[in-house]
Amino acid sequence: MIKHFLSLSSFNNSQILHLLKRANDFSSLSNPIQFNQILKNKFIASVFYEPSTRTRCSFEIAAKKLGAEVIQFTPENSSVKKGETLYDTLKTLESLGVDAIILRHSDDKIFDELTTKFKIPLINAGAGRFEHPSQGLLDLFTLQQEFNQLNNLVIGICGDIKHSRVAGSMMVAAEKFDIEVNICGPTDLIPRNQKNVYIYDSLNEMIPKLDALMLLRIQLERHQSLELNQDEYFKNYGLDKQRLNLMKPQSIFLHPGPFNRNVEIADDIVEHPKSRIFKQMSNGVYTRMSILEYVLGD
Ligand code: CP
Repeated sequence: MIKHFLSLSSFNNSQILHLLKRANDFSSLSNPIQFNQILKNKFIASVFYEPSTRTRCSFEIAAKKLGAEVIQFTPENSSVKKGETLYDTLKTLESLGVDAIILRHSDDKIFDELTTKFKIPLINAGAGRFEHPSQGLLDLFTLQQEFNQLNNLVIGICGDIKHSRVAGSMMVAAEKFDIEVNICGPTDLIPRNQKNVYIYDSLNEMIPKLDALMLLRIQLERHQSLELNQDEYFKNYGLDKQRLNLMKPQSIFLHPGPFNRNVEIADDIVEHPKSRIFKQMSNGVYTRMSILEYVLGD
């Protein structure tokens, strides 16, 4: 059976915990040599139709740490420019002998039709507003590292939740692990039909109850027209030193990145002791090693 990695909803709790355990094994690696045979002789294509720093680089590092060869495919320097369709591009990569494809695309439903047409695993590296499951996994890993467990944590998500695939994956995971989700953001960017979430108008009111606050960027690329006053946004929804003082002593804050200084977060607290932003990025390598081992390992 082909093991795609498209949505956290396809995995049960014990499967997710196993992926996290393997991420932990990779993170506590004393001798990297023992892991660099896991994907030896495998070729993995990294296909990004949207910009990326963290996801692309961490998947590529993860693949190389496991001994795989990485084929970087950039649509703008390819035959896409001559009219080749996405399907034909991916089918070409499969025909060339690629063993798995990591794909980022702006279309929420991009994987719906593709999965039945390929004999190699497809990995969702972010699909429109649908899900970003490898980000979801690294967020869970970061929470687990911090609190030693996931069940019954209380998290808050602040920002453009309606258009966020990061929030999409976290909501799926939260339901599985009974994580309480609270959300806050500009009225138009908050989903009103989301089940099992508590909606806050005021970030100051939401913050004191949280174990972890996840800040999100406004997904400007997914808006037809949005007039964002960045100063106003920062005043209402940005995390600054004053709001940090409202957080519980053991609580932390997250941001999937890329973050905008002095919009979602004050410049001077990006590397505050409560920040796990760069820790999330490091964890992205280990969780993506775990994902690649899952889809291509024995
Ligand atoms: N978090 C995230 O997906 O970042 P990139 O867009 O840089 O990959």
